[in-house]
Amino acid sequence: MQFRPLKPEDKEDALAIASETWDGEDYIHLIWDEWLNEEEGEFTAILSGGELVGYGKYTVLSPGEAWLHGARIKKEHRGSGLGSALLEYFLKKAKNDNMEAVRYAAHASNKASINMALNRGARIAGKYHLFSRPLTAPTPTAKTSPRRLTEITPRIVEELETCPFVKYGNGYIAANWQFRKVSQPSLEKYLEKGHIYSMHRGFLLYTPPSAPNDFAYISAISGSLEVQNILLNWGINESKNQKAGSIMVKLPSYPPLIQFFRRRGFLPWGKTTEPDFFLLEFNPT
Ligand SMILES: CC(C)(COP(=O)(O)OP(=O)(O)OC[C@H]1O[C@@H](n2cnc3c(N)ncnc32)[C@H](O)[C@@H]1OP(=O)(O)O)[C@@H](O)C(=O)NCCC(=O)NCCS
Repeated sequence: MQFRPLKPEDKEDALAIASETWDGEDYIHLIWDEWLNEEEGEFTAILSGGELVGYGKYTVLSPGEAWLHGARIKKEHRGSGLGSALLEYFLKKAKNDNMEAVRYAAHASNKASINMALNRGARIAGKYHLFSRPLTAPTPTAKTSPRRLTEITPRIVEELETCPFVKYGNGYIAANWQFRKVSQPSLEKYLEKGHIYSMHRGFLLYTPPSAPNDFAYISAISGSLEVQNILLNWGINESKNQKAGSIMVKLPSYPPLIQFFRRRGFLPWGKTTEPDFFLLEFNPT
């Protein structure tokens, strides 16, 4: 077995492997060019006898913080140790890169993904529920709009760290499928794709859809109940204007927060009241 960075000519084989995942609903084709051309991090191929049998992505979220995602093993090779070998390769790389934390998220039903982490010293750093809201129902329009922030100050970090959304989420926020610890550098990085809106000491962390019909994403919301109401309605209307297909949020297991979103038309993604995603964390150094 060998590891090397993926190359443009691997695309067809790599996407064929991805098409065997999530009933053909996989997202690798959407992100392929971005991951291949990224300077930081590594988009790594696993080869066996010269054949591409799997791959995965190592992303630097902020200094000291690595995120693993996009692990895909060719169907006929699953369960034969390739996923664990790739994880060990990335953990070694993270140690060499002096990463303080390496994380990934796995669906609660993905036993292979969870076990390969737990068997290598990971801990479950959080459990989250995925909710989404269709954008068909009308939403009240607010008279005032929040202000978009372009700079992260220590006060913003502190307010976000202490709000229930982040506190009960063990200090993490999710931006699309990636979780990051709330800190000055990670929020600065968040601003590359996400927006932070503020009004009356409340905040809304919102990522617009990357294309029409894609989902918009809420990463956190804070403030008094009244302010959160305005911010959420504002975010829903913004996502409608931006032609999102739906709006998504990953919530910590904190009943008042789940209630708040449910009452505003957000529906659970899974069929149970159990968390959908586990956040797994390694501390390699
Ligand atoms: C998840 C995935 C990357 C794992 O790779 P893999 O090569 O199939 O997994 P491995 O054979 O290396 O097994 C991983 C670990 O889980 C365990 N495991 C494997 N299948 C399992 C199962 N069905 N139930 C419980 N444990 C299982 C193995 O014992 C192994 O642990 P160990 O190395 O400590 O002994 C791969 O199955 C895959 O591509 N799945 C589809 C896409 C996906 O789910 N990606 C990950 C998203 S988080």
